[in-house]
Amino acid sequence: MSSLRDGFHRTIDYLRISVTDKCNLRCIYCMPSGGVVPIEYKEILRYEEIARILKVAAKIGVRRVRITGGEPLVRKDIAHLVHLIKQIPEIRDLSLTTNGILLEQHAEELAGAGLNRVNVSLDSLSAEKYTEITRGGNLDAVLRGIQAAEKVGLVPVKINMVPIRGINDSEIEAFAKLTLNTSYQIRFIEFMPFDSQDLWSPERFVAVDEIRSRVGNLGTLVPAPVRKSGPAHYFRLEGAQGVIGFISPLSNHFCGECNRLRMTADGKLRPCLFSETEIDLKPALRQNMSDDEIHRLIILSVKVKPEGHNISMRQAGMENLFKFRKGSGRPMSKIGG
Ligand code: 5AD
Ligand code: SF4
Repeated sequence: MSSLRDGFHRTIDYLRISVTDKCNLRCIYCMPSGGVVPIEYKEILRYEEIARILKVAAKIGVRRVRITGGEPLVRKDIAHLVHLIKQIPEIRDLSLTTNGILLEQHAEELAGAGLNRVNVSLDSLSAEKYTEITRGGNLDAVLRGIQAAEKVGLVPVKINMVPIRGINDSEIEAFAKLTLNTSYQIRFIEFMPFDSQDLWSPERFVAVDEIRSRVGNLGTLVPAPVRKSGPAHYFRLEGAQGVIGFISPLSNHFCGECNRLRMTADGKLRPCLFSETEIDLKPALRQNMSDDEIHRLIILSVKVKPEGHNISMRQAGMENLFKFRKGSGRPMSKIGG
């Protein structure tokens, strides 16, 4: 089978597809309170267009796909897209990232359409705090969504938590303890600075080293044999059922192992989360060009994938990092988290 290699000997086999930039929440670390100006409806790729791109991408090496947003479950009939993607034989793993609010309603049809797993973003286990962080979200709905996902076999359920100092970092231990009696994968992700929110500051940032040492106070952390398919490093608290992942995009960036491309809801390939370089697939789709042209553009975006982002703390220092990110491009909800 063919595989896609970039200019730095990395194999690119993973595509994250944002299907909408809209969201039913306004998380303080992601969006401004008023939301962001939405992408125009006609600019958003149809499901058939996404499937066409994926067929080409699969032929040249993409094996795993994640559906993201915004919030993918706010887009109409998302199970239909799942169904279309599952028709592509080379794609062997299909997952979806959601905030969980609508998961209870959709879990069964998503599993029925062939979805393999879900990642749920959840940043607090306190109902009030959750509502504050998400500017209005209902924790109970998310917890019911997680249970529904488990029930229909969308497992292992991964829960993504972004610790922010002074806001929810006091809950790191409580999240870690969830793994004692459940088979959830709890993943701690370092808080990243994005243009769309003013919350990030060096004081708010909690590095993975600190998170790991706090979790380590709860028991012995042993490396967990989870097949590595992304940037997380996995451990298990001795005796626990679930595992804990640590993702450190800033303190120890993992560009050397990066295996992915992203596609925005309006059909732009983004070789790197932290670079504004985009390759637009829409003209090829809508001006009746052949699959060869789509093929060429995918290869091009892999070829221009940068070796790394230049905002590591070591290189820039926290203050510079903050300045660097200000005024630079799309918010997370428009890239696909
Ligand atoms: N820092 C880290 N993670 C973020 N996400 C959104 N904004 C940020 C940020 N500033 C994550 C969410 C979710 C995914 C969609 O993106 O937690 O897991
Ligand atoms: Fe929506 Fe996810 Fe952004 Fe929260 S982090 S506002 S759930 S896109």
